[in-house]
Amino acid sequence: MAWFSIPRPLAVLLALSLFGDAATAIELDLTSSASIKSAASTIAFDMMSYYKGNLSGQTPGLLPGPPATPSITNAGYFWWEAGAMFGSLVDYWYYTGDTTYNDVVSQALLFQTGPDNDYLPTNQTNGMGNDDQGFWGMSAMTAAELGFPDPPPDKPQWLALAQGVYNVQAGKWDPTTCNGGLHWQAFSFLNGFTYKNSIANGCFFNIAARLAVYTANDSYAVSAERTWDWVRSVKFIDDAYNVYDGAQSTVDNCTQVNKQQYSYNSAIFLLGAAHMYNYTNGSQIWQGRVAGLLNATLTNFFRNGIAYENICEAKVSTCSIDMLSFKAYLTRWMAAATKQAPFIFDQVKGVLESSAKAAALQCSGSPADHPNGRTCGLSWALGAAWDGTSGVGQQMAAMEVIQSNLITQAKAPLTAGSGGTSKGDPSAGSGDISTPEVVKPITTADRAGAGILTALLSAIVVSGLAWVSMAEKGVGIMKG
Ligand SMILES: *[C@@H]1O[C@H](CO)[C@@H](O)[C@H](O)[C@H]1NC(C)=O
Ligand SMILES: *[C@@H]1O[C@H](CO)[C@@H](O)[C@H](O)[C@H]1NC(C)=O
Ligand SMILES: *[C@@H]1O[C@H](CO)[C@@H](O)[C@H](O)[C@H]1NC(C)=O
Ligand SMILES: *[C@@H]1O[C@H](CO)[C@@H](O)[C@H](O)[C@H]1NC(C)=O
Ligand SMILES: *[C@@H]1O[C@H](CO)[C@@H](O)[C@H](O)[C@H]1NC(C)=O
Ligand SMILES: *[C@@H]1O[C@H](CO)[C@@H](O)[C@H](O)[C@H]1NC(C)=O
Ligand SMILES: *[C@@H]1O[C@H](CO)[C@@H](O)[C@H](O)[C@H]1NC(C)=O
Repeated sequence: MAWFSIPRPLAVLLALSLFGDAATAIELDLTSSASIKSAASTIAFDMMSYYKGNLSGQTPGLLPGPPATPSITNAGYFWWEAGAMFGSLVDYWYYTGDTTYNDVVSQALLFQTGPDNDYLPTNQTNGMGNDDQGFWGMSAMTAAELGFPDPPPDKPQWLALAQGVYNVQAGKWDPTTCNGGLHWQAFSFLNGFTYKNSIANGCFFNIAARLAVYTANDSYAVSAERTWDWVRSVKFIDDAYNVYDGAQSTVDNCTQVNKQQYSYNSAIFLLGAAHMYNYTNGSQIWQGRVAGLLNATLTNFFRNGIAYENICEAKVSTCSIDMLSFKAYLTRWMAAATKQAPFIFDQVKGVLESSAKAAALQCSGSPADHPNGRTCGLSWALGAAWDGTSGVGQQMAAMEVIQSNLITQAKAPLTAGSGGTSKGDPSAGSGDISTPEVVKPITTADRAGAGILTALLSAIVVSGLAWVSMAEKGVGIMKG
């Protein structure tokens, strides 16, 4: 039957049901676990449609990378975000029990460990930040805590991988400027090395605090304390618990703080502080820090109970590819923090509920590459009026905030003393500690690469796209 022979009213109905009503959105009933799982499953499936790393000829662990000239419309995903995504899928399995992606996740997390099993794969040297390494390390830590299936015995184990990242970074603590702290970038030849920032130090603090809880080894807690004290001393976290981006170390010794605020910075410290609260058996000091961080997080990153990336969401086209994913970490870490510091549960659960409902409505898009009527935007407060954006970050954020609503029934994270089976190695990664620049010398090819980056950066500045790419991770330096 030809289209034109269908009576018009029927044709309209048919068109509406087939293509029309773009605002179908994702169904979500928060009173039903089955509904939450089903919504998370749909969003996870769509998120994984961006991932090709497990297909033949592709590299496990990588999302389609940034093209030579990144912009909002053609941006690819940096290495760290892939690491974060695999962590979000560990969460997905933990909350839903769905094992669909477990093999793909294990393959990726084990393929990108690098030669020293500390998430410094040689291919990524030219763009490696301590935070990038940290995100993969945190995903391995999550796998250990949640009892994600252990890798085969001949492969590095989740706990040992997190310890590898910790050990390498502990060796990079640098008191010669700003009285301490980690640099943003992992190697001194990279642009951005002289910047010290909240996310690099937040990753280290977060991993250290979680290792303290998991292993009950006090060395990690001492490191976490020292990191917290330092971050406070340079006022990256102020007295009201606002978390700022960072500062240049060489020019002015971290005294000129860049006050941009990103939700993942607040949340990474919140989760670390919640672990320190737990590790100290509920000390008043850490209780105050957890309460203060949560209060500032709720004030700075929620509007009417809905998570909001304050720096760019009012005009979502100004969010960089990285920023589009930040609410994934904001919400997952708030949820995880309630397990370590149960006194914050009520405050967190309320906003996870309102944010999840709003996020589900925003999953109503039909971009050209995913014309399914359920692709997620980021602007949750817009309701079912899809904001026109799509990608891994938006899918990951919607998946995390929705599945986080299963936190009440989810089991407590494991520790070595409470059933955790992941094998550790306290000296993991130590081969890399002292002189990483010597371990990974700059090759001629690297230098050429850096030159190309510099040229590219100038070209972008000239062409007026500076904000888009330079806002990458919040400072005026492009990531390689
Ligand atoms: C790759 O992973 C997807 C899930 O994201 C799965 O559907 C597909 O079968 C996998 N392909 C191969 C070749 O393993
Ligand atoms: C590094 O890059 C090479 C060449 O593209 C690729 O074959 C290899 O699998 C990559 N390794 C990792 C860990 O990404
Ligand atoms: C910066 O701080 C270090 C200590 O961390 C100190 O030795 C150095 O003199 C300071 N430099 C400047 C320019 O203030
Ligand atoms: C505790 O952690 C520290 C720091 O990584 C390590 O040097 C030490 O060997 C660990 N102790 C035990 C008993 O594992
Ligand atoms: C917390 O309590 C446990 C059990 O009483 C104790 O073994 C541990 O030392 C305490 N931890 C701290 C940091 O006080
Ligand atoms: C520490 O975390 C465990 C596991 O979630 C929880 O049972 C315990 O109550 C927490 N401790 C404190 C002091 O809140
Ligand atoms: C919460 O944050 C607001 C804004 O910074 C501040 O005025 C208020 O005192 C804080 N409340 C608590 C309990 O810390």
